[in-house]
Amino acid sequence: MAGREREIEAFDLVVARTELSRPARSMVLTGLRGVGKTVLLNRLRGIAENHDWLTIRLEGRTGKSGDREFRRDFARELQIASRRFASLKGKEAVTQFLRTVTSFSAGIGITGISLGVQTDPARATSGSLDIDLRDLVDDVGAAMRSLNKGVAVFIDEMQDLGDETLSAFVAAQHYAGQRELPFFVVGAGLPNLPGRLAEARSYAERLFEYRPIGKLNRQDAEESFTVPAGRAGGEFEHEALDRLVQASGCYPYFIQEFGSALWEVAISTPFTQEDAETAVAAGLRRLDAGFFPSRWDRATPRERDYMNAMAKDGEGPSGTGEIASRLGRKVTSLGKLRGELVSKGLIYSPEYGRVAFTVPGMADFIERQNLELPRQ
Ligand SMILES: Nc1ncnc2c1ncn2[C@@H]1O[C@H](COP(=O)(O)OP(=O)(O)OP(=O)(O)O)[C@@H](O)[C@H]1O
Ligand SMILES: [Mg+2]
Repeated sequence: MAGREREIEAFDLVVARTELSRPARSMVLTGLRGVGKTVLLNRLRGIAENHDWLTIRLEGRTGKSGDREFRRDFARELQIASRRFASLKGKEAVTQFLRTVTSFSAGIGITGISLGVQTDPARATSGSLDIDLRDLVDDVGAAMRSLNKGVAVFIDEMQDLGDETLSAFVAAQHYAGQRELPFFVVGAGLPNLPGRLAEARSYAERLFEYRPIGKLNRQDAEESFTVPAGRAGGEFEHEALDRLVQASGCYPYFIQEFGSALWEVAISTPFTQEDAETAVAAGLRRLDAGFFPSRWDRATPRERDYMNAMAKDGEGPSGTGEIASRLGRKVTSLGKLRGELVSKGLIYSPEYGRVAFTVPGMADFIERQNLELPRQ
């Protein structure tokens, strides 16, 4: 994990402040596809786990039943994570928390994971996520505070949550802050996530510290090639490393792909410029067969036309008016199409009237593809 020290330190501080009963602000990681949000989120969870916090990891899901499944996941994961605390039942606050969690999960239909307590019919049984989350924040938060710990709910792909679920979690975070309870929602998602959170609750901006996660700096990118290779005795000629770093654009996912291609194509070390060239070609072929099409194929033909028009601006962003005129359409008539591309996670709006790809290198991929398959 190169280049993410600042985020790790910031989260360390959240944990430390919480254990000193000082207020702390939760974090939301945002960035393009493949920049390393998920690995960083998992790392932050590891920190909370090392401090014996109650942690849960969830992933937003798209689709009609996405939110219902997400709530089930939440209840099940909460029930499972709470088992660790079942042996501390002697403490009143802990017993109450175990009972509230059990009531909540039972209400959602989760059975078979016992915490060894009765349900509490008066807590977290309203069936409204908003209200039940407050009971959970109160009771789990109070128990964790009595143990000098915290609760952290890590939500990846958070932009995929439906409006109601998103607002309920933001409201829960707000409520926890007001009550000074150690409950944290730590999110990760595409660059449109802050906007979605603000739409859900206008005060969201003050609740979370937004941390944009981007490509690595040059030195960190180099080390992402050299350090793992070095462990296996691999060394780089200067030009080889230059070529690989340049081709990767310092994006973690591409570093990973070109790095692993290098091991497959190189016969001996130190790696030469020719090895690097071959690895870049092989890595690109693999990206063009997997990473890019897995996104591209989600778009309808009309949505692809839209992205084709965007690709003319390279990595962008593109003006929505400009795209419309390229397509010979009115901007207003393309609003719905644009909205669908955003909700599919393919594009986002970095500022009003502009759009950009969520996938680094997408414009080049589209151009490469257009060269291979001339459009009829
Ligand atoms: N800081 C880093 N240093 C080295 N490698 C990294 C770093 N961050 C991520 N990677 C590698 O890059 C790849 C992509 O990371 P990850 O899946 O976390 O991205 P992501 O932002 O969650 O992408 P997506 O939006 O598609 O879910 C992984 O293979 C990961 O191991
Ligand atoms: Mg991810």
